Amino acid sequence: MLKIFRKREEDNKSVMEIIDKYEGAGDPVTKTLTFVKEFLGPYNGREDMTYRFEHTLRTARWGLKIAEGEGWDPEPLVMACLLHDVGYPKCTDFKDFKVHPSISAEITRKFLEKINYDSEQITKICRAISIHDRWNDVPADATPFELSVRDADDLDRFGIMRTSLLAGEDITKHTAAELGEICQERLATLEEHKNRLCGTPTAEKFWAESLECRRQFYENLIKHTERTFELQKWMQERA
Ligand SMILES: [Fe+2]
Ligand SMILES: [Fe+2]
Repeated sequence: MLKIFRKREEDNKSVMEIIDKYEGAGDPVTKTLTFVKEFLGPYNGREDMTYRFEHTLRTARWGLKIAEGEGWDPEPLVMACLLHDVGYPKCTDFKDFKVHPSISAEITRKFLEKINYDSEQITKICRAISIHDRWNDVPADATPFELSVRDADDLDRFGIMRTSLLAGEDITKHTAAELGEICQERLATLEEHKNRLCGTPTAEKFWAESLECRRQFYENLIKHTERTFELQKWMQERA
């Protein structure tokens, strides 16, 4: 169980030092948010944690919207979403990033046990977190709840903020003509994304809206790249 922790004695100590401060009394969502903020807050050398923490807040907001849409008690899903990326500060290389769901699930289990959260809910939450990076290769027996952390996470990952971030990188690295081609490729990929499995009808609806938003974004971006050439075109026509 504590394999990942044992691999890094120093990290193990700091994780447990933070978890040990938390007790059973009080609102579990408030405690979870405080814990996540303490854990994911930016610190020297890891400024990417600002984005990670704010992504976490938006993912939890999607969790809330899914739970409301499905008529579920939102508390466990909001908590699962808040905790889903809590393993990131323990990831220092690409190999680590690939296993961040299991690192996050392991930290989550220790934290939820420490605050005496319901054991059945802990099992559900940890499983949901451990599969949150899967695309359509989800376990056949995954429940709608267990698929919903993944849905909430991807809804933020495909939202306009992340789309803009990607586009920003493309704009700084490529010419307008190349950018137009990249946008066309991204539009084609969006068609494949329509086949992504969702855990609930509510997430399915949000997913379709999110892809539509991304489609409009890229189509607008293509129109704007074309403006780069319009002056020269006008000059040629004028000559
Ligand atoms: Fe993640
Ligand atoms: Fe995430």
